[in-house]
Amino acid sequence: MRVAMIGTGYVGLVSGACFADFGHVVTCVDKDASKIDRLHQNIMPIYEPGLDDLVEKNVKAERLFFTTEAKDAIADADAVFIAVGTPSRRGDGHADLSYVYAAAEEIAELMDGFTVVVTKSTVPVGTGDEVEEIIRKKRPDADFAVVSNPEFLREGAAIKDFKIPDRVVVGTDNEQAREVMRELYRPLFLNETPILFTARRTSELIKYAANAFLAVKITFINEMADLCEAVGANVQEVSRGNGVEGRIGKKFMHAGPGYGGSCFPKDTLALTKTANDHDSPVRIVDTVVEVNAARKKAMAKKVIAAMGGDVAGKTIGVLGLAFKQNTDDMRDAPSLDIVPALIEAGASIKAFDPEAMEEAKHLLDGVSYADNAYDAVEGANAMVILTEWDQFRALDLDRIKSELKDDVVVDLRNIYSPEDMAKRGFTYTSIGRPA
Ligand code: UDX
Repeated sequence: MRVAMIGTGYVGLVSGACFADFGHVVTCVDKDASKIDRLHQNIMPIYEPGLDDLVEKNVKAERLFFTTEAKDAIADADAVFIAVGTPSRRGDGHADLSYVYAAAEEIAELMDGFTVVVTKSTVPVGTGDEVEEIIRKKRPDADFAVVSNPEFLREGAAIKDFKIPDRVVVGTDNEQAREVMRELYRPLFLNETPILFTARRTSELIKYAANAFLAVKITFINEMADLCEAVGANVQEVSRGNGVEGRIGKKFMHAGPGYGGSCFPKDTLALTKTANDHDSPVRIVDTVVEVNAARKKAMAKKVIAAMGGDVAGKTIGVLGLAFKQNTDDMRDAPSLDIVPALIEAGASIKAFDPEAMEEAKHLLDGVSYADNAYDAVEGANAMVILTEWDQFRALDLDRIKSELKDDVVVDLRNIYSPEDMAKRGFTYTSIGRPA
């Protein structure tokens, strides 16, 4: 089939490359000419493991194309995906849908023949109706259907999550559109991926419910971690002791400094807005938003306490800045709360992150950057781990000890074990586990 993908960000570029890898012919459209130029040189606008190879392979196979010109892409397409950003609006944190609406206007002008218009971006419940209205108003004659097809891609694992999803959700009541979507995802039938067809609004809500539930689950284990610290229990064992039960499940039960990223923070806010607009508040999610924001701020206090209560004039080696490992994404990263608070308290920060430092330089002031983990902790009074990069999991701890001026380690991702770190003579603080 022929696909037009509007937007070449985390969702659009991965989805476009994967659809091409399924054998479809995909044209990714973006208004940002420099981004399209870089893509023509196989330079990715984002860090996503395996994406450059996937793009290169499909461009070579002439199944994947990039352009700033939407015209041909949309006119020829059987399905046009809207995969543009839906950022949190400044001020009230609600989803900014201006890019979605603009894409709908453009599609209305250019589509030709029966066209399935797919909202791939995460959009509030009812957006599909608005997109349909925009197109219908401009093209009363047009033969089209607006379909919701949310993605469940995790940054850093996006290609795997696209190709081996737990489910594909398609929201439409148009049979012809269902046929097109079945055809698009046909390669997934091979591994019996369930394709769930629902009403459009249901599909839109499934997406928000998924992210909100995951945010609730993470925040729950984070609060259990605080309780563990208060009662002297071990949160990793609480997590393991419950995760083995099918009803609970072990994933997303790792206590940490609070969730960040481009999705959970914005999607929880957007869901609470939808709920409040319809006078059906989601109080659990409201509380999660509040608790998570407070947690990220509280983490700096935890570091300061671990360093004796005062960091004025001290140096801290920070390992990891991205909101999680395997990404360069700094959106709502805990480091954006923790690092400025430590600087505010008088500490000097030397940071290292394998991928996110370029991004961090635009967002963090007063931080010096290191070439590697050991360089970051050289002469520092403490080492603080903020992101669980694999390369931080097997550090030469003897070397770390020799580089550090004081033997303080604060591990906000529970990468190391308290027993082992105590044996090595570190003053070790982690999340929800007795020292
Ligand atoms: C998330 C959803 O997982 C994905 O399905 C959706 O499409 C987009 O949003 P992403 O934001 O890329 O994906 O990252 P994810 O791996 O879900 O982690 C989100 C946040 O939760 C990160 O800050 C991570 O550090 C944190 N997290 C995750 C925990 O603190 N503990 C966990 O056990 C898991």
